[in-house]
Amino acid sequence: MARLPLSSVAAFVSWLLVIGARPGYAQTCWRDTQCSSISTAAFPGAWESNIFAPSSRIVAPSVLLGTDGKQISTYPSQATLDKDKKAIVFDFGFEVGGVATIDYTVSSTADGGTIGLAFSEAKNWIGPKSDSSTGDHGTPDIAIYTGNGGTGDFSYVMPDENLRGGFRYMTIFTTKDMEVKIHNVSVELAFQPTWGNLRAYQGYFHSSDDLLNKIWYSGAYTLQTNSIHPATGRAWPAPSNGSWLENSLLGPGNTILTDGAKRDRTVWPGDMGVAVPAAFYSTGDIEYVFYHGRLLFHPLIVPRSTRNALQSLYELQDSSTGQLPFSGKPLHATGSTTYHLWTMLGTYNYVFFSDDTEFLQNHWDGYKAAMKWAKNHVNSSGLLYSASKDADWGRLGADGTLTSIQALFYRTLITGATLAKWVGDTNGIADGWLKQAGDIQSLTFKDNWDSSAGAFFDSADRRNVHPQDGNSLAVLFGIVNASSDEASGNWTPIGAECEELPGEISPFISSFEIQAHLLAGQTQRALDLMRTSWGWYLNNPLGTQSTMIEGYLTNGTFGYRWNAGYENDFSYTSHSHGWATGPVTALTEHILGLSVTGRGGSAWRLAPQVGDLSHAEGGFMTKRGRYSASWSRGDDGAIKVEYAVPEGTQGEVSLPLGADVDPAKVTVNGKPLGGSKRNAAAWRLEKAPGGRKVLNMRSPGGKHSISVR
Ligand SMILES: *[C@@H]1O[C@H](CO)[C@@H](O)[C@H](O)[C@H]1NC(C)=O
Ligand SMILES: *[C@@H]1O[C@H](CO)[C@@H](O)[C@H](O)[C@H]1NC(C)=O
Ligand SMILES: *[C@@H]1O[C@H](CO)[C@@H](O)[C@H](O)[C@H]1NC(C)=O
Ligand SMILES: *[C@@H]1O[C@H](CO)[C@@H](O)[C@H](O)[C@H]1NC(C)=O
Ligand SMILES: *[C@@H]1O[C@H](CO)[C@@H](O)[C@H](O)[C@H]1NC(C)=O
Repeated sequence: MARLPLSSVAAFVSWLLVIGARPGYAQTCWRDTQCSSISTAAFPGAWESNIFAPSSRIVAPSVLLGTDGKQISTYPSQATLDKDKKAIVFDFGFEVGGVATIDYTVSSTADGGTIGLAFSEAKNWIGPKSDSSTGDHGTPDIAIYTGNGGTGDFSYVMPDENLRGGFRYMTIFTTKDMEVKIHNVSVELAFQPTWGNLRAYQGYFHSSDDLLNKIWYSGAYTLQTNSIHPATGRAWPAPSNGSWLENSLLGPGNTILTDGAKRDRTVWPGDMGVAVPAAFYSTGDIEYVFYHGRLLFHPLIVPRSTRNALQSLYELQDSSTGQLPFSGKPLHATGSTTYHLWTMLGTYNYVFFSDDTEFLQNHWDGYKAAMKWAKNHVNSSGLLYSASKDADWGRLGADGTLTSIQALFYRTLITGATLAKWVGDTNGIADGWLKQAGDIQSLTFKDNWDSSAGAFFDSADRRNVHPQDGNSLAVLFGIVNASSDEASGNWTPIGAECEELPGEISPFISSFEIQAHLLAGQTQRALDLMRTSWGWYLNNPLGTQSTMIEGYLTNGTFGYRWNAGYENDFSYTSHSHGWATGPVTALTEHILGLSVTGRGGSAWRLAPQVGDLSHAEGGFMTKRGRYSASWSRGDDGAIKVEYAVPEGTQGEVSLPLGADVDPAKVTVNGKPLGGSKRNAAAWRLEKAPGGRKVLNMRSPGGKHSISVR
């Protein structure tokens, strides 16, 4: 530590004081995992009552059920198993995951008698067999057993390697005629391993609609359950004896973002396309990080689980071809064109949100090799061609020059050019990528646009399908200007059916669809779809009532790809899947309307969409500091907006106006906007998608208020 200017020392010391402040409870991270430096909520308030994460890592059940699903009693209460009652279900009331401990007394037992523990996320699969998680569909998950210890008092703790990553229900049962009293049941939560306080959210959202609030928080909690210790990944190959093992090493560090709590417990880059922005805006999942030397006095705030996940994917890159894996270790699936691109987009998203250009520098050669791989798979049509039928998010027919692939490639080329600028690669590589993006855009229109439907075909070879993925991504990633007229064609009362996976509802692809509606200014459509689809699951008494499901059928059965890869095993479906968390981003970026538009929070946009709401507020943390905003609308249509963003940043405010609003009735920080010529230069009345009228203006950082009478 040589020759430091005194001012930096002072800054360092005061920074240490800030992060050194500890709340008045013990830090309990997972086992011996080092705790993150962040331990308190950035935005304390009434909305914290919507957080599903408990205040302690040790949780207890809330009620006891019979195997018929009927309530026996609340918990705590003593439970007795005997020859007439061989099983009792402990309902935790929400999704949990980790290692269970049970204290019990055996007063009589039979030869070979033992106690079994079986787990399920949904109520459909309570009983002495667990829901499926291993992927060996020939021997679905059964239970784990305490072993035969004769009579006496016992305290059984599940082995760490058998931890159950996601469940709401635990059935405890005897295998023979036994007399057992269960005194105490608890679970030590294993997820979000570096957090000493599981409620220390770095973002928040609150609105006049309680269902939307709960949906936002169920997304945040889903992401927490998906952030796990890298040494607790799913075993592969799967055990074939009905047991499960969560002892694979997924990647570096102490925490890593996977796809699901119960399953797959594996890094999947497509899933991260939804999960990463949602985590940034909600939990933050961030840590202050020092890099040796350079950043001592300007520590990065790094979304750690994301960084480690991306790192694990680059470690699996094929060095001869440049192709990135379809999934992380230990599955290490390969051969996906879309997921290859999703890792490249994930690289951009990560650097964009964190400002961690050092990570970019470290992986720039790998990134360029990945771009080369993509360019090498452009076929004679000029579009990117995928040879694999299966290697995508689960849709049918992932082969050909799909619209979804072109949308992803277009966005990858555009963001790749930005990354080249950030990393200081001035060899002209960015110009070539931008030019190719333009070609991809026009060729996608030429080959895949169905003008009679006002939507894209799946591909030139598959004109009978107008896919939800391709059409949503084309709008979201800017291949086509926002309009979402066609998109609600496949809605059912409980969500949007996928044409490319008939009979099923994908919260992953619907996550893009709601964002596309919002970009198109179709606020009500987005709100309606969130309420019918995510609201349906959240309020479903058979589900976890706290997380977001991987997928379900249009007839309301929990299940996903049951007849295409999941071998008719409906219970294999994950009920806590980060790829479903699109509403978090949609509500923060578009309904509250506050989003980051410059790397590390250097620029931003505030563009509320009110829909049928009367109030929304929220905030999040960036490297530049705190962001927050709120708006409310009176019965007379008057709107009041307040926001506070870091000094030194630049933003754009876009306010919805009624058709007949007079700019003279707008005040900014208490001063009328309409009157002054000087002010008039700073604002514009413009048309926005969806036939809306908006007032656009630039804004510096700081704290401001605007009201429209
Ligand atoms: C039950 O177990 C938990 C976890 O070990 C412990 O914190 C709690 O005090 C126990 N409760 C009773 C009533 O023994
Ligand atoms: C099941 O198989 C795994 C290996 O695949 C092994 O580690 C485990 O001990 C077995 N469990 C039982 C109960 O036999
Ligand atoms: C290129 O893609 C188009 C559209 O999917 C397909 O019809 C054509 O056969 C492909 N060409 C080659 C050489 O694979
Ligand atoms: C989208 O709209 C803008 C502005 O009206 C226009 O310049 C651009 O060409 C349009 N893009 C497409 C793909 O239609
Ligand atoms: C929904 O459809 C699936 C697949 O056809 C079927 O197995 C299931 O029983 C159906 N569920 C209901 C509630 O009809």
